[in-house]
Amino acid sequence: MKKSNFNKNWLFTYGSNIEAFCNFGFGKYSEATGPAASVYDYSNWERIDLPHDFAVSLPKSHKANTMAGGRPVSHFARFYTEERTGLQDSEIENIGWYRKTFTVGEHMRGRRVFVEFEGVFRDSTVWVNGVYIDRHTSGYTGFIYEISDHLIFGEENSIAVRVDSDQPEGWWYEGAGIYRNVYMWVGESLYIKHESVTVKSSVEGNVRASCVIVNDTEVEVTECPTFKITDSCGNQVASVERRVTIPAYSECEVVAELKIDSPRLWDLTDPHLYTLTVSATDEAEEKFGIREAIFDPERGFLLNGNPVKIRGACVHQDLGGVGIALTDNLNRYKIAKLKEMGVNAYRASHNPPSPALLRACDELGMLVMDEVRMFGTSPEALRQMESLVRRDKNHPSVVIWCIGNEEFSVHNSEWSYRLAEKAQRLLKRLDDTRPVTYGGCNGGNFTGANGAVEVRGINYIHNGPDGTWIDRYHNNHPTQPIVGTEETSYVLSRGGTVNDLGSSMLDCTADVTMMWASTPKGWVKYMEKRPYFSGAFMWTGFDYRGEPNPFVYTNFSSSFGTIDLSGMPKPPFYYYKSWWTDETVLKLTPHWNYKTGETASIIIYTNCDEVTLYLNDKEIGKYCVEYLDDIRVKIPFEEGTLRAVGIRNSVEYTDSLTTHKETVKIKSRVELACEGDEDISIVELTGIDGCGSICATASDMLEVEMPEGEGEIVGVCNGDPKDTYCEKPAFFEKSLLVKAFNKDGKLFCVPDKAQNERKSRIDYIEYRPNEKGYDDDYRIVAIFKDEECERHTEIYTTTLTDVEDYEYIELERFGTVCEVYLNGELIGSNKRAPRNPSTRYTRPYRFYANFKNGENTLEIRAIRELVGAPAFSGYVKLGKRVASPIRIPLHYGKARVFLKSAHPEDLVAKIVK
Ligand code: GAL
Repeated sequence: MKKSNFNKNWLFTYGSNIEAFCNFGFGKYSEATGPAASVYDYSNWERIDLPHDFAVSLPKSHKANTMAGGRPVSHFARFYTEERTGLQDSEIENIGWYRKTFTVGEHMRGRRVFVEFEGVFRDSTVWVNGVYIDRHTSGYTGFIYEISDHLIFGEENSIAVRVDSDQPEGWWYEGAGIYRNVYMWVGESLYIKHESVTVKSSVEGNVRASCVIVNDTEVEVTECPTFKITDSCGNQVASVERRVTIPAYSECEVVAELKIDSPRLWDLTDPHLYTLTVSATDEAEEKFGIREAIFDPERGFLLNGNPVKIRGACVHQDLGGVGIALTDNLNRYKIAKLKEMGVNAYRASHNPPSPALLRACDELGMLVMDEVRMFGTSPEALRQMESLVRRDKNHPSVVIWCIGNEEFSVHNSEWSYRLAEKAQRLLKRLDDTRPVTYGGCNGGNFTGANGAVEVRGINYIHNGPDGTWIDRYHNNHPTQPIVGTEETSYVLSRGGTVNDLGSSMLDCTADVTMMWASTPKGWVKYMEKRPYFSGAFMWTGFDYRGEPNPFVYTNFSSSFGTIDLSGMPKPPFYYYKSWWTDETVLKLTPHWNYKTGETASIIIYTNCDEVTLYLNDKEIGKYCVEYLDDIRVKIPFEEGTLRAVGIRNSVEYTDSLTTHKETVKIKSRVELACEGDEDISIVELTGIDGCGSICATASDMLEVEMPEGEGEIVGVCNGDPKDTYCEKPAFFEKSLLVKAFNKDGKLFCVPDKAQNERKSRIDYIEYRPNEKGYDDDYRIVAIFKDEECERHTEIYTTTLTDVEDYEYIELERFGTVCEVYLNGELIGSNKRAPRNPSTRYTRPYRFYANFKNGENTLEIRAIRELVGAPAFSGYVKLGKRVASPIRIPLHYGKARVFLKSAHPEDLVAKIVK
């Protein structure tokens, strides 16, 4: 089937903009009502592209559930309790509505059309052309609906999605909305079933490939699919043809055995991928890698026979500026950032990750622990598990499944043993190539889920009686491999040197950990020393919204990350980098702006053999770093420059910190540049003082703006977990009313009162969506005055200049069918399947269009279909969305801006005094 992106040009509104009681009209086919109907007034809906998170645009509130990021998208305060938030019902925006219109050509008749949602948080209901399609409650599994039967060919069709984020599924910020990609799939009636292609391989090069072919026709069909494998250079390395007869209206699995001679294995430094192509009437492609991944009870984790210590990170799908709506390039960015730190494994805690993230792990060489959201064996839990395995089974990066995490109510009991044993058994039927684990935080207990799973998962070394309990567990259960499913839970700021509970400040040099947690070097030393210990996953690679421990009621995002919410490294990033990569690291942290007389705390992260420190060019000490350690020094502060000179393999490296003064300018650096139009760029802003020094403790307020026409800011983030700034820019709609058209060579129908404005032809007005109606003077097109005449078309044209930055044409209150042509091309029609003749066509219709520089011709063809239709008139407007400038304070001297632009370097940032 052909897959096309369905992310662009959606409309969105919060449920509160829609009537309180909505009868969706499940009663009759295609007669859904309200915003689910095929015809609805969406003139004041926001124009958005997916992925989209409607929680992140809402103001942060301490009355909302701060454990979930403090956004008013749920009535509930904590996952575990029935406690409500302090919000009034009217303040809560748990419902979001999405709509999109799309034209389906006549040529599509007979084809099979599907819409795939990779993830909607959560409880979504979908309608197509007012037809109720289905409901999907899980916020983390994807789903696909066939919509072929409900399409209207040769016309505009609509899809409406209602999302309800009220019920949390986890205990962190989960966002809200259609936050992953949406695709349209189109195939013939003989097609390869979605996600049915399966590839299993061995390091000897034996490949077993299969797929399911669906015959949705009334006759039996014989298909001869070819299975072809190509390497990453496009060279064919194996091929085989199969033959299968599929009865009418049924499906068959086809299996092929192939052999690749001397396969190039997938591993962390050479993540080589092969492509399997299955070609029959339909064609499907699947990337896969050949590798052997084993959890061994004595030797730990083995990749292609070699011991590899899992140096992992747990991460939630969340990032500054965008919330949970990470574009594919941001998912890849996060994986690349973790790799840069030396992380080699990603735990998708505690839910299925996005497909783009797994593709990035396959391509960049990152191991994955892939996890379900719901533990147990209820029909829903099993549906979620099956969906995860069906989707992710071919990713070479996925080396282990995780079937649950810290299920406190049952984890020590025989009950959880039964659940875990059954879930694992059923999972192995879906995929027998990977082991199963469970994130247990109940120490050496073996009676519950811990005893059932193949690989023992341990959440925290300190969740046990003493420092050697894991060794005892290993001795007592010598056949069960062990992995640290969670470790660390170390809390720190990116650059602060004050620990103050009152003002939610954390000292990044002071080793603040939660009760159950360890410092970075604590857990790293522990696991590196034990060969049987497969390795562990730090909690967490990145900060995330919610769980703002230890500042549960004051902050909105966590401080657990080694990288902050905006993607900026915190000091221990360099600890891991020193010992987990081959690169030379010499990093002085955090700043040199203590007060005179104070003792400064400095940490040097390095893998140099020896480091000498100079204060204002005077040598103050020589240090050697032990393996897996860092250098900590306390020095009386003196203004100036602290410089470290390190030697590694006889090469000299330096790093320095300088006392800074007031911020006078902002330096911007493009951290990530868009490559495609779906991508988001990141620009990092740094405060600089009059002498050119970095202002590492500055908190100046900035105003950021993109020059008109250069793209848009999608969000800002400075990594401060307590800050209340708004992460998303505010937009308003600007409209241009078209006040005159030509018809039959005459300037047509500018109403009397507006005659004297005729010269200007067009006029700027600000569009206020809540205002009822318009001044009748601007109602410019009156048509069908002759009510007696038969069906006919009237053509109105006009020329527009200086409109290239407008985004859409809107027809409002036309009680007739209109076709809109821009520069000779039909861009749409307000025509709908007729149902209620008295109300159809009158709502605003928006047609997004590309205006060119210079002259544009706009033509409205008004078609009277119904004989005797009343005389109607309407408005024609051009419109665009305009962003207001957005403010963000620097946090420890830095802030980041997330934007959609091919020229992120054009971002303008000013200091607001
Ligand atoms: C763990 C839990 C994580 C997170 C973490 C915070 O117990 O599995 O989801 O809550 O604690 O330290």
